[in-house]
Amino acid sequence: MVATQQTNENNQCEESGGRPLLEILDLSVGYETGSGLVRAVDHVDLSLYAGESLGIVGESGSGKSTLVMSVLRLLPLDKTVVTGTVLFNGVDILRCPQQEMARIRWKEISIVFQKSMNSLSPVHKVWEQVEDIYRVHAPGASKDEIRERILHLFNVVNLSPRVLELYPHELSGGMLQRVCIALSLVHLPKLVIFDEATTALDVITQGQILDEVMRLERELKLTSIIVTHDISVVAKTCKRVAVMYAGRLMEVGDVGTVLVEPLHPYTKGLISSFPPLTGTRKKITGIPGALPDLKAPPPGCIFAPRCPEALKVCKEKSPVPTVVSRDGEEHLKDVKFGPGESAGLRNIQVPPIGAHVVACHKYGGDDA
Ligand SMILES: Nc1ncnc2c1ncn2[C@@H]1O[C@H](COP(=O)(O)OP(=O)(O)O)[C@@H](O)[C@H]1O
Ligand code: SF4
Ligand SMILES: [Mg+2]
Repeated sequence: MVATQQTNENNQCEESGGRPLLEILDLSVGYETGSGLVRAVDHVDLSLYAGESLGIVGESGSGKSTLVMSVLRLLPLDKTVVTGTVLFNGVDILRCPQQEMARIRWKEISIVFQKSMNSLSPVHKVWEQVEDIYRVHAPGASKDEIRERILHLFNVVNLSPRVLELYPHELSGGMLQRVCIALSLVHLPKLVIFDEATTALDVITQGQILDEVMRLERELKLTSIIVTHDISVVAKTCKRVAVMYAGRLMEVGDVGTVLVEPLHPYTKGLISSFPPLTGTRKKITGIPGALPDLKAPPPGCIFAPRCPEALKVCKEKSPVPTVVSRDGEEHLKDVKFGPGESAGLRNIQVPPIGAHVVACHKYGGDDA
């Protein structure tokens, strides 16, 4: 009952003027280090509508965590240089007061990390921690109300109610991560981010949790971002995928398009680094070489030093993200573009949902 009411509230944002729930506009994030600025996220544009499930995939060190941590403003202010805009439901996340951010975390956006279970206190029972987290945003909530909400979520993530009476050390890693996933949903936030949330778990537990995430998406009309280095996780759980490399977006589009008929040479390499999920076995080729030094990225296309399809222009000019398919065009009619944005099909700031966007000179990304 409680869950249904909250779900309906959350669904209202789907009708919020046709704008995406989340808009990341020209976001760049650099970490200040003694030896220079690490350009972890470089001019990223990405948007997400309510009810969508977006996968962000890329090898380790591509900037995926930095990108999603910016959305929750979790980066250390004194050690990072952040430019661009993150709009969540109309709120300017990078510039809103701390008080507003505290309201948004857990209640509007929550995040589960790979090692979220380490954030649980070892000296308090799970129930005490649930109560504490719940009362951050609902100080007057009764024990019965909290219990009703958490037991509903425990049921969804397949945990027994008796877990509430246990200490974290009495639970397996998989159970702890389920507790964290349930906690991330306790206020039924509009957006949930899973950053490698199932990576450390065994394959069977990971499969169970991903099934539960998909069920949650259906039951609670959840909007989710699944961050992973594993394309099979994205293939299983997401409708749309953004492929990230060295801080930049390489390819964005529907999972069925990008993972089945990838255009960007990096996406092709990433897919060939994994065994095929179906069909005949084939040799895993992978991507020779390593990520570039993000303190001194190469000129031109950042993937050029590793790209088997590189052209002469690739070492000179950085390709711009370009819409290569009109599949998303029907969504454009509902999208109100703001100042500086364009509804044209090339070089737009916010790609329309469903559009297939590629940053590669082979696909017209040479207008920079
Ligand atoms: N606190 C930090 N200080 C300096 N560099 C960092 C810091 N955190 C991450 N980085 C660097 O930023 C880049 C992106 O890291 P990250 O966002 O964690 O990537 P991913 O999540 O894709 O593995 C990497 O080169 C990483 O070494
Ligand atoms: S722009 Fe050039 S180097 Fe970069 S991915 Fe495309 S073909 Fe390869
Ligand atoms: Mg990460």
